[in-house]
Amino acid sequence: MFWLDVTLLLLVCALETVPFTGLVLHEWLGLALVGLAFAHLLFSWSWIASHSRGFFSRQSARARINYFLNWSLFAGMTALIFSGILISQKAIPTLTAAPVAPTMDWRWDSIHDTCSNLVLILAGLHLALNWDWALAAGRRIFGRLWEGAR
Ligand code: HEM
Repeated sequence: MFWLDVTLLLLVCALETVPFTGLVLHEWLGLALVGLAFAHLLFSWSWIASHSRGFFSRQSARARINYFLNWSLFAGMTALIFSGILISQKAIPTLTAAPVAPTMDWRWDSIHDTCSNLVLILAGLHLALNWDWALAAGRRIFGRLWEGAR
């Protein structure tokens, strides 16, 4: 789970800078992210189920904000990947053997651009709200490695 999350973080960072990866790698990494994000949701399923069930019961403001934020991130990611697929110039034409559209649909392109900014902010907040968990998991893993090396 910890390494999956680290991979997701690095992947999102790489995807946010198209000039760094180039467009071909950007598109394939974007598609790879779909599988990893799906696995991330499956691993978090008990949290999702228990917080969805308990949404109308008494909950702290923090838990409610976290729940709302996670749904916003999910919606933003879905729109980002969906728009990315629609403006794809490399990966989707290769997979479907369809001809590349001569011009990119500027509306989907601007949706992709807007969603990428939104996801950047929401993913940062998501990491911040779960920072205690990430730190504890990191300490456990690196502590074990550190003990093993001594
Ligand atoms: C989490 C996933 C993704 C992130 C964070 C992301 C982020 C970005 C960013 C920041 C840009 C540059 C801004 C722009 O010109 O619109 C961009 C451009 C682009 N992305 Fe993505 N993207 C993701 C997934 C995808 C996927 C899955 C595809 C297609 C399979 C894709 C296809 C494209 C294309 C074709 C462009 C070039 C748009 C242009 O030249 O105007 N992206 N993406």
